Amino acid sequence: MEVDDEKVLAGRAAAGHVRAGQRLALGTGSTTSFAIRALAEKFPGGDQLSIVASSVATERLATELGLPVRPLEPGDHFDLMIDGADEVAPTLALTKGGGGALFREKFLARLSQELVIAVDHTKLVSKLGTHHPIPIEIVPFARAKLLHQLTERGFSPRLRADRTSGGPVLTDNGNEILDLYPENGVDDPARLDRELRVMPGVIETGIFVGLAHRIYVGLPDGTVQEILPSNTSA
Ligand code: 5RP
Repeated sequence: MEVDDEKVLAGRAAAGHVRAGQRLALGTGSTTSFAIRALAEKFPGGDQLSIVASSVATERLATELGLPVRPLEPGDHFDLMIDGADEVAPTLALTKGGGGALFREKFLARLSQELVIAVDHTKLVSKLGTHHPIPIEIVPFARAKLLHQLTERGFSPRLRADRTSGGPVLTDNGNEILDLYPENGVDDPARLDRELRVMPGVIETGIFVGLAHRIYVGLPDGTVQEILPSNTSA
């Protein structure tokens, strides 16, 4: 089974979790897009759902598939958010932002009663920052200073560049992304998240701690593993 097939399985499992009448937040990325496709099959026309998207790309896909997406409203809270991840640690701490949507994803996750993450098996890691860099969204003006500070602190930061133009990738918020490569991974994700977020010019990090409630993992044997936080695990 290819990794993409595992993503399809995980995405479908996450979509299977959605009930009619729910307020839904949608993440970004290829696995989430498989979940969106499954949702469009399960709820044709989407009129039983109230959906907010974490990116222009997700909004476009959902709309093309007939799922109406609305803007964020003042009183918004969500029953459920479906998203992917770049790394999932045993504590269910996540690295996210491979698709550059980390700010909106974390913003919506914090407003969601349940965050369901769908991944293929390659995303399970023993420690964050070992298989994927840690992305941070930054204000472009602050880039030079932050590159210097983060290099001094041993994070080997790299400005995320567009493969075609070579210029900086801009997020949907008009900001840039620095990818951090901590030498031996991240021992304390919550602490690193706090340390990075207080640096002037940092908007948000791709470290998600204590936010994920349920992980669906597509496995090479064609099954889906469900992982819950250890205190609620069956
Ligand atoms: C986007 C994300 C994605 O969820 C993450 O990069 C995983 O993507 P994919 O499902 O394509 O592997 O955080 O900002």
